[in-house]
Amino acid sequence: MSEPQLDVHLDADAWAPQLRHDVVSGLTSSPKTLPPKWFYDDRGSDLFDQITRLPEYYPTEAERQILRSRAADIARLTDADTLIELGSGTSDKTRVLLDAFTATGQLERFVPFDVSEQTLIDAAKFIGEDYPDISIHGVVGDFERHLHTLPRGGRRLIVFLGGTIGNFAPELRREFLDQVVATLDPGDSFLLGTDLVKDHDRLVAAYDDSQGVTADFNKNVLRVLNTHLGANFVLETFDHVAVFDTENSWIEMRLRSQIDQTIHIADLDLDVTLRAGEEIRTEISAKFTRDRVTTELADVGLEVVEWWTDDVGDYGLSLSTRR
Ligand code: AVJ
Repeated sequence: MSEPQLDVHLDADAWAPQLRHDVVSGLTSSPKTLPPKWFYDDRGSDLFDQITRLPEYYPTEAERQILRSRAADIARLTDADTLIELGSGTSDKTRVLLDAFTATGQLERFVPFDVSEQTLIDAAKFIGEDYPDISIHGVVGDFERHLHTLPRGGRRLIVFLGGTIGNFAPELRREFLDQVVATLDPGDSFLLGTDLVKDHDRLVAAYDDSQGVTADFNKNVLRVLNTHLGANFVLETFDHVAVFDTENSWIEMRLRSQIDQTIHIADLDLDVTLRAGEEIRTEISAKFTRDRVTTELADVGLEVVEWWTDDVGDYGLSLSTRR
């Protein structure tokens, strides 16, 4: 087993100026917003993990079902020797793919890409132990900025799972897909997980579960601002809101202030005034149709070669190739 390689494009403290910038710009604009990436400190990541096991939150299990039944097809159709996973986290679902790709003997290299260096160090260790014959090349970076640093060479498959692409606003989604394509050579592949449009009550329930885990996850962003920017948000004065925006075909999560209040953010020397009923938008999660996915991929030069859903058609996995 060779030593894993780790490229670090994002220092452990690079997030601090980014957080300050995001908070100033988001909370001084109208309507007020906060980007979803700040949900995910240790507590937020743990809450998200709990969300994936809620009865209402179907995407995780639906995607796993598709991957289990299609992994061997994906290995054969892509013929890839390099598997690149964006936002890999603990690379849990990836194991299904790694198993299929090592069973054929085709896999030479695994490239997990994540914002958290520690997450990658841990993942590289566990994956390295279980798949001793492949080389591991971790990349620490932000997938909005550092995709151009992905290693080249070989027949590559980039995977982006979980429906996280839905967190991008449409213009940013286009930019992201352009970046993905720019790192691919003709014949390389892209495997993309997308949550699909469905009954609105089920969509809303997935983002407003009966146990209140998603509400806690949503409010965690305020906790992050309290901890890292010296803000004085009182979480109990906010209500969790999840609505489906039919026009834009996305779920919006918001935090609604129950009262008129002024929040002081000490480290930014900033006061933020909220009226009773005023909302801060914390996340959009776009819901797709097969046509929409096919069109958006075609727009950047990716041809969909396979489209799979789970049994009930809740979730879509597309395999596309660069022309
Ligand atoms: C991890 C971004 C795919 O949008 O469904 C879960 C995050 N937010 N519940 C999603 C999330 C509220 C999730 N993604």
